[in-house]
Amino acid sequence: MGAASSTTSVLKSGARQLLGRFGFDIVRSTNNRGGVDDFIPFEATLRAAQSAGLSVGDYIDEVVNGTPGATRATIDELRALGVFSAGLRTVLEIGPGSGRYLEKTLKEASPERYEIYETAAPWATYLVDTFGVVAQPTTGRSLAPTPDDSVDLVQAHKVFSGVTFLSSSRYFFEMARVTRPGGRIVFDVMTETCLDPASVRAWVTKGGAGHDSYPAAMPRSTCVDLFASLGCSLEAGFLVPMGIASTEVLVFRKDA
Ligand SMILES: C[S@@+](CC[C@H](N)C(=O)[O-])C[C@H]1O[C@@H](n2cnc3c(N)ncnc32)[C@H](O)[C@@H]1O
Repeated sequence: MGAASSTTSVLKSGARQLLGRFGFDIVRSTNNRGGVDDFIPFEATLRAAQSAGLSVGDYIDEVVNGTPGATRATIDELRALGVFSAGLRTVLEIGPGSGRYLEKTLKEASPERYEIYETAAPWATYLVDTFGVVAQPTTGRSLAPTPDDSVDLVQAHKVFSGVTFLSSSRYFFEMARVTRPGGRIVFDVMTETCLDPASVRAWVTKGGAGHDSYPAAMPRSTCVDLFASLGCSLEAGFLVPMGIASTEVLVFRKDA
């Protein structure tokens, strides 16, 4: 084993011990309705990232999830699709968690306003303090404080696989409402594209550690047809890694 891989496995085992010791109860989402209502522990993750010499986002990709470069790969795909090139003035993100996509989005664009809806209060406070974003009051079911047709990019990553069908669907209506005509809506869902028999077997045999409601699936055509009915057309879809299998990122544009 080389020095780099030995360092990585020490980090990984350290992280697992840390996460195991602190458990999933440290950061509990307060308003999650029926989905996976825990997120990774706040203090422990910050400390572990710091001692690994990594940003929190890179630490989660590399050590916690074991998928180095995963966030970067999604951001690269979105850049290639022109998602960041339109001079974004307002961005809204649902469930940013540690801010790994938020941080990289801020490097791609310089929005005047970045709103977050996050049910895990310690992470929301951390993102406000670190990146100067605006944390909106989050009921877990609407984007009510955000006006209609006001946001250039609305995004959510790895959120809708952890909440119920109804929670995701409520957010879908709201995402379409707040996006300005010509703006983009980006989110991932575990569609049938991600659910070939081998992937289902992998989830059944290796997934679901303590959370039988995760991951939640969502039919692709339900999303495409619903957003079409709300005046938003599908521009692209691509697969990204999620846990032991994958999830599908969908990119919509609201008709101008
Ligand atoms: C699996 S984490 C993903 C975090 C981040 N987007 C990422 O990919 O690293 C899901 C996030 O969604 C948040 N969340 C869960 N239910 C939510 C809801 N109903 N509204 C807003 N955020 C929610 C959790 O607190 C957590 O931060």
